[in-house]
Amino acid sequence: MRAHWAYEMGWGHAFLELPDFVLGFSTHVKLEGLNPTGSIKLKAARAMVENAEADGILKPGSRLIESTSGNLGIALASVCAAKGHRLTLVTDPNANEYSLRFMRALGAEVITVTARDPNGGFLQSRIDLIHGVLAEDPSVVWLNQYTNPANPGAHLDSTAVEIFQGFGEPDWLFIGVGTSGTLMGVTEYVRRTRAATRIVAVDTLGSVTFGEAPGRRWIPGLGASRRPEIFDAHGAFDKVLIEERETVLMCRHVARSYGLLLGGSSGTVLAAVRAMRNSIASGSTVLAISPDLGDRYLDSVYDDDWVTRRFGPTVRTHANRGTDTDPTNTALT
Ligand SMILES: Cc1ncc(COP(=O)(O)O)c(C=O)c1O
Repeated sequence: MRAHWAYEMGWGHAFLELPDFVLGFSTHVKLEGLNPTGSIKLKAARAMVENAEADGILKPGSRLIESTSGNLGIALASVCAAKGHRLTLVTDPNANEYSLRFMRALGAEVITVTARDPNGGFLQSRIDLIHGVLAEDPSVVWLNQYTNPANPGAHLDSTAVEIFQGFGEPDWLFIGVGTSGTLMGVTEYVRRTRAATRIVAVDTLGSVTFGEAPGRRWIPGLGASRRPEIFDAHGAFDKVLIEERETVLMCRHVARSYGLLLGGSSGTVLAAVRAMRNSIASGSTVLAISPDLGDRYLDSVYDDDWVTRRFGPTVRTHANRGTDTDPTNTALT
């Protein structure tokens, strides 16, 4: 008999302050890495599968296919194992070995594409492969996190509620953009409730989602080499782009200064808080959503050789610079 489906809400209420992160306002992180599969994606995975079941598209024993650079794959593998669905995950060389092993351990089949698409990323290559599989076997179900309304819907129903009822109304809310599911769901909540919170959408330089030129990116999680269909560029949020070298610096800074090992996109989002510091009024409460923790980035963001090869030795040596009260801490400001 299948395991009873046991992921209930309640994991999403971990909020942590980073004292003196920026002087003048308080900065907090929402630790989504404490979800049972280690990331915020469990919410989207569960909602997409349960919506498809409710619509009769998915039945016990169905086969699913999905494109993912890591966390959604792990989350879907977990949901599918518990619900008895077969799962094929299409990923790319930016996904880390830890995530691939995690997916396989949960019973998923993993296919890695290696050809870059015309924008220099892998997303289109992954999607092309999925179209090929669907053409061969139309009974396979593609949930497609880039178009599926259950993805933002999950964040409207859970992430936003956890923030506004569990934490309270932040003055500023910083959200990383991958599929944009988190951003779109939380933005919709703010629109419906007329909360005064200002939302900042954060992406990686080299991503095309905000309409900028494509470029090479190394760190999975944020960014896209084609614009996600669910993204609405006219939503009520500011947009900030962060270079990956700043992501690495920030992750390492937070690890050494706060003893908190965060994932790559958390570093990107916190770098955006620093970048926006002059726009944020003194005394404000700032919340940044941290999609995952840093353990699955030990071989990349936190590995000196990996960092030196991609960003040069200065990024490595400049990373340990104390909190905002440290007068030598200029490069991060
Ligand atoms: C590490 C990481 N960063 C960023 C995101 C972005 O989330 P979204 O796809 O909702 O935009 C995710 C999604 O789970 C993630 O796992």
